[in-house]
Amino acid sequence: MSDILRLENINYSYIDGGYERHILKDLSYSFEAGKFYTVLGPSGSGKTTLLSIIAGLDTPKSGEIYFNGRNIKEIGLHKYRRNEISIVFQQYNLISYLTAVENVLLAMSETDNKLPKDRKTVAYNLLERFGIVRTKADRMIGQLSGGEQQRVAIARSLASNVNLIFADEPTGNLDTATEKEIIGIFKELSHDFGKTIIVVTHSDTVSQMSDQRVLLKDGKMQKL
Ligand SMILES: Nc1ncnc2c1ncn2[C@@H]1O[C@H](COP(=O)(O)OP(=O)(O)O)[C@@H](O)[C@H]1O
Ligand SMILES: [Mg+2]
Repeated sequence: MSDILRLENINYSYIDGGYERHILKDLSYSFEAGKFYTVLGPSGSGKTTLLSIIAGLDTPKSGEIYFNGRNIKEIGLHKYRRNEISIVFQQYNLISYLTAVENVLLAMSETDNKLPKDRKTVAYNLLERFGIVRTKADRMIGQLSGGEQQRVAIARSLASNVNLIFADEPTGNLDTATEKEIIGIFKELSHDFGKTIIVVTHSDTVSQMSDQRVLLKDGKMQKL
């Protein structure tokens, strides 16, 4: 079986104004390894909540999550986050007082995964692969455009050598041309490098480029 991530009967709710609001209801879904998924759904449908849960940043009220057949609670949420997944955010979430290459190097220091010895060369190469040439790699984050910052964030997500990458509205702050370039990178990562990519988006342009579109609606996920 090639499911990299399996969600089983996930429930999530919170108390709002005295009564309970159910965001995710007995949600079950399996993600296959090496595919590029987009998760669609209206604002407030629970997409970010779902990502937080499958990234081990939040825990569901009930239900189980399996990574390569192993319950992530058994792996340990901290280890799961450190060694198995990366997240790309809408706001890039790079460290602004570091350069691009320093951001990538930092991510390399935050995993137990085996990495190549010459980390600096690897970091520069990773950035270059996504269009961040050396002179830009040595710039402070604030001196890069939004599209460039997201490229750095994608390079950073690969620095720890994980196979599962999540992104929450990664092109929400970018123009359509840059959006297409960034999504093209995600597509390449899944098709050419075997990464499993799960992108939350409400953009049709983005979802049309994915292998599988999934709709989050009424607390459940369904294939489109
Ligand atoms: N712990 C919580 N307390 C209060 N409101 C929450 C909590 N968690 C999520 N919400 C609300 O639940 C809804 C779904 O959130 P979210 O996952 O951010 O949706 P989406 O990303 O699809 O827009 C939003 O209205 C959000 O404000
Ligand atoms: Mg959201």
